[in-house]
Amino acid sequence: MQNLARVMAVATLMLVAGGTTHAQERGTIEPPRKLTEEQARVAASNYQRYCALCHGEDRQGYVNDHAPSLRSKSLMRTGVPHEVLRALSYGREGTAMGGYLGEVGGPLTLDETWDLTYWLFWQSGAEDRVDIQKDMIEGDAARGEVLFRENCTSCHGDEGQGVTAPAIGNRSALAHNSDEFIRYAIANGREDTPMVAWKDILSPQNIDDLTAFLRGRADGWKAQKVALKPLPTPDQYVINKDGEDPDFELRDGMHVSSKDLLAALQAGKRMVLLDTRVVSVWQRVHIEGSVPLPYYTKLDDVVRDLPKDVQIVAYCSCPRAAAEHVVNQLRRRGYTRTAVLYEGIFGWMNMGYPVARGELAPS
Ligand code: HEC
Ligand code: HEC
Repeated sequence: MQNLARVMAVATLMLVAGGTTHAQERGTIEPPRKLTEEQARVAASNYQRYCALCHGEDRQGYVNDHAPSLRSKSLMRTGVPHEVLRALSYGREGTAMGGYLGEVGGPLTLDETWDLTYWLFWQSGAEDRVDIQKDMIEGDAARGEVLFRENCTSCHGDEGQGVTAPAIGNRSALAHNSDEFIRYAIANGREDTPMVAWKDILSPQNIDDLTAFLRGRADGWKAQKVALKPLPTPDQYVINKDGEDPDFELRDGMHVSSKDLLAALQAGKRMVLLDTRVVSVWQRVHIEGSVPLPYYTKLDDVVRDLPKDVQIVAYCSCPRAAAEHVVNQLRRRGYTRTAVLYEGIFGWMNMGYPVARGELAPS
């Protein structure tokens, strides 16, 4: 009965759109496999440990760094598995979203990334998936650009870099997201978020044009594999062991500016730099000399290796949430010489300050 109703709904939509060349509302396909109780338990605990910091305990999004909601059915019905799985496995280059798959230096096994993807689907309450086709959407990209500037930049940024909304011009996202996934997101929006269903505002042709414009910004990006470096050992934690201590003036008792940190590094001051992001992004790019200590580390296992008398500066890309999370825990353990880099590593890089980059793995 339910299936029949669905078929009729699709048929009606096709009639409405009939005779046009626009992508039409697709049928639905089966939901993904159900998780066993044990898989669901592990996925839920992985979610809390690794994802809640930015996406929220309840998958509601916007807890830190405008991380999107992970509970909208529209995302889960179109993005599971591939668009969701790839985002969480490989991350989105240049955003706070790092890669969590072991292969790129993250903490999750391949099976865990799949289970987490399916767990997100079932948590959203979705019952089926939209039959997303891989066809290219044909639209007028020049017209799409005009529409984009008129309607979308206030949240997504002039270059689609993301302001309060995801970076939809992001190369790694465009490399993974199919035309129809993008088109569906524009047309149907994401429930309970500021992203409205533009099919109520723009014509189907307009939405095709926007899709073509966004798609045209992909420039053939391939996930680049970085050769994983060995992690620093405790004897390498302190930079400039024989240098003097820096004397930072902390804003709000917490923050050091990129300018002051750079000056201290150039003056050979003694410090420990903590990179609190998921380790896969440390592998890609980090401030030279930094030690990966991701926000999900169980500190009991590592504090014995961290000196209390040396200035510690923590940074992340969100731009401060993960670093503050770690520093607050250290302070509770009596680490008083602690600070957080105010601008985060992206701010640091935007100022042209030096970073060490990972080497590409031979392909
Ligand atoms: C440090 C903050 C942070 C953490 C931790 C984090 N994310 Fe994200 N995530 C983001 C941001 C920011 C974006 C949007 C990136 C962009 O602009 O494209 C994002 C995007 C995503 C997307 C794409 C959603 C969409 O609408 O296309 C998925 C899926 C996702 N994250 C899943 C996860 C999962 C699962 C975890 C835990 C394993 C996780 N994230 C951990 C910040 C984070
Ligand atoms: C009022 C702010 C706002 C405006 C205006 C807006 N968006 Fe969004 N958009 C968002 C937010 C927020 C999200 C992420 C929603 C979530 O949490 O899943 C989003 C998500 C998207 C996504 C899905 C990205 C992904 O990877 O899942 C696409 C595509 C998109 N927007 C395109 C557009 C286009 C094209 C326009 C202009 C017609 C537009 N948006 C206008 C706020 C906005």
